[in-house]
Amino acid sequence: MNDNTPMISLQHVDKTLGGRKVLDDMSFDVGRGDSFVIVGGSGVGKSVTIKHIIGLIKPDRGHVVVDGQDITTMRPIDLNRFRRRFGMSFQEGALFDSMSVFENIAFPLRRHTKFTDSQIRERVDECLDMVHLEGVSSKRPSELSGGMRRRVGFARAISLKPAILLFDEPTTGLDPVISDVIADLIVEMDRTLNTTTVTITHDMKVAFKIADRVAMLYKGRIVEEGTPETFQQSQNPIVQQFIQGRAEGPLTE
Ligand SMILES: Nc1ncnc2c1ncn2[C@@H]1O[C@H](COP(=O)(O)OP(=O)(O)OP(=O)(O)O)[C@@H](O)[C@H]1O
Ligand SMILES: [Mg+2]
Repeated sequence: MNDNTPMISLQHVDKTLGGRKVLDDMSFDVGRGDSFVIVGGSGVGKSVTIKHIIGLIKPDRGHVVVDGQDITTMRPIDLNRFRRRFGMSFQEGALFDSMSVFENIAFPLRRHTKFTDSQIRERVDECLDMVHLEGVSSKRPSELSGGMRRRVGFARAISLKPAILLFDEPTTGLDPVISDVIADLIVEMDRTLNTTTVTITHDMKVAFKIADRVAMLYKGRIVEEGTPETFQQSQNPIVQQFIQGRAEGPLTE
């Protein structure tokens, strides 16, 4: 595979959910090793978009091509195997509250590898190190703060050394300082693991910090895309209203 081919490519994707066309001819490419950030208002279809990338939702029309393979036509068994290439941190958190932090991170390893117990321990420790968490392995997620839980979710997402990391609202509900810590962590993970990263966020500070490219989702498609610098300078009134967080403008008409 030639290195110029995108790692992720959404091609003319349409998706109707609950009687509403959520994605309408949505197309974008994410280059290998790039950090791509999608911003947009509540309910605009950001989570639906990220779920298309990992094949949890199938398009009504169009294609989702990952690492040169069309996942829209893949058999479920192949798609399941293919998903090992992804690490995803879900908006809802999705940690198992009945399991310790250790068992949460070990879960994908037990499921998808033939690692011995000591290999699992070693890998879990590595992942906890990576997200700068110490001394929490035996705790339950419910005993941790929101920021720590988020980091446990990241540790689990990277446990299988995925080529692609997906983050759905990694900093929502966290204070500005912890949000910044999490943003630094995403940059660090992206660099050290050399992954392709797609992050969804409402937080423009986080977006500009972690992105190689920022894209704005509006009415079912990407209406603006650029580097943090060009995006910030966009003349598009939709983009400017969103960046400035103004109540008046095309987004609220
Ligand atoms: N499984 C589903 N069944 C029916 N409707 C759905 C489903 N999933 C999403 N939707 C609808 O699709 C639209 C987009 O939802 P989505 O979760 O992608 O929004 P979002 O941009 O992630 O919003 P937020 O910023 O609040 O997380 C919403 O109107 C939602 O109600
Ligand atoms: Mg969402």
